[in-house]
Amino acid sequence: MNADKKNSDMASPADMHDAFEAALEAAYDFRLDIKTRGPAPSADPKALMAAFDVPFADRPRAAGDVIRDLAAAAAPGLMGNAGPNFYAWVMGASHPAGVAADWLTSAWGQNSGLYATAPAAAVAEEVSMKWLLGLFDLPSDCGFGFTTGATMAGFTCLAAARNEVLSRAGWSIEERGVFGAPEIKVFLGEEAHSTIFAALRYLGFGERNFVRIAIDGEGRMSASDLAARLSEHDGPKIIIAQAGHINSGAFDPFTEIAALSEKHGAWLHIDGAFGLWARATPSLAPLCKGAERADSWSVDGHKWLQIPYDTAFAIVKDATALRRAMTIAASYLNAPPEGRRDPSNYAPELSRRARGFAVWAVLQALGRSGVEEMILRHCDCARRLASRLKSEPGVEILNEVVLNQLAIAFAPEKDRETQARLTDEVIAEIQRRNRCYVSGAAWKGKKIMRVSISSGETDFDAIDLLAEETLAAWRKVRERA
Ligand SMILES: Cc1ncc(COP(=O)(O)O)c(C=O)c1O
Repeated sequence: MNADKKNSDMASPADMHDAFEAALEAAYDFRLDIKTRGPAPSADPKALMAAFDVPFADRPRAAGDVIRDLAAAAAPGLMGNAGPNFYAWVMGASHPAGVAADWLTSAWGQNSGLYATAPAAAVAEEVSMKWLLGLFDLPSDCGFGFTTGATMAGFTCLAAARNEVLSRAGWSIEERGVFGAPEIKVFLGEEAHSTIFAALRYLGFGERNFVRIAIDGEGRMSASDLAARLSEHDGPKIIIAQAGHINSGAFDPFTEIAALSEKHGAWLHIDGAFGLWARATPSLAPLCKGAERADSWSVDGHKWLQIPYDTAFAIVKDATALRRAMTIAASYLNAPPEGRRDPSNYAPELSRRARGFAVWAVLQALGRSGVEEMILRHCDCARRLASRLKSEPGVEILNEVVLNQLAIAFAPEKDRETQARLTDEVIAEIQRRNRCYVSGAAWKGKKIMRVSISSGETDFDAIDLLAEETLAAWRKVRERA
């Protein structure tokens, strides 16, 4: 405890300096260490709880001491997704330029809801989005909102979609709300991401409103089934397609889907949490052909772009539709100057973190060529891993490797239970060896080890290590079986 510290001091200049330095030192050590140490947290839940559950301080403490204690308590419970050897879920690695920009964001303490409350933050968002729309090759006058993640970006886009298709059907949601409105049918692939269903639920949709469209072996929506199902329904329609299937990385056939959407007057949304980044590289962009004809897109910043958690983008072609769905108006909320925007009119929150600074910094640090190099490198890594693994007896790559995702099944010829158990054992063995981190999922009736290559640090050396670790784990499990 700092005996000199008054309750009214948040921190003296010396204390503040010490706290900032302590954070810098802990962050720098962590980021260097994570390149070589095992990616799994070492603490069990009990030990982790004990490290944090210290007596609540009676009196104010020096901020630097608190930060050192925090870093020590958290260290054994930190996951290694900021390092090169992490492949579970779909996670980014928080680019150092973004981390530093995020520190400044916190130090500046800006509330980015309004231009008036945080002018620099509002402008950083506008300029970052101008660059992003250029990377995605989408119209420069799209409306957009910065959100926590793709779940909320999807929610934001689909709120605009819901209101707009109802408005076209003569129903003003602003006036009459959702209850009693004409029924909207939502057409989406059988393997749409779970968070899309969550976003739809938040917006008042339920199972009865969904029309699940047949998919092919890669999880891609069948355009012919979509055509058939669309013609069975009158009334307002939303179609949700996917750029980047969570297991296969596959892309829905956007050109055909967009044509159907236009024919039926539907709103087409694309969930491109990670897959939309294919549009940032000329050689992969054809995978996403036709996606520009959609009405809205949700895409993460904290996955493939390596923005520190949490950031995603809701992009809507009709900026007015987005604004109508999201506007927060009150007499005390000052209007922005001519030509500028209030971020809170385009996303669900009023007060929030100024996410644009980190996005601006990471985009500048990577540059257009850096974004492209990273995405291509990860896709090359995915193909390299597939080619290292596929000749091994008892290993099957279940997807066509078109992007950065691999769905790997072990012992695919065994009965369902044995196959699942053996695959779980391989995942557990890789995690136990703790040189790489992977996790599992279920797909096509099988248990899979899903590999997502999305850490900015991952390169061929890291992938060769993963290939060796996977083969070593599988051979051990196979021998034991
Ligand atoms: C296709 C897809 N959509 C949406 C999401 C949700 O993204 P977030 O976790 O950023 O909310 C994910 C997450 O992995 C995803 O892969």
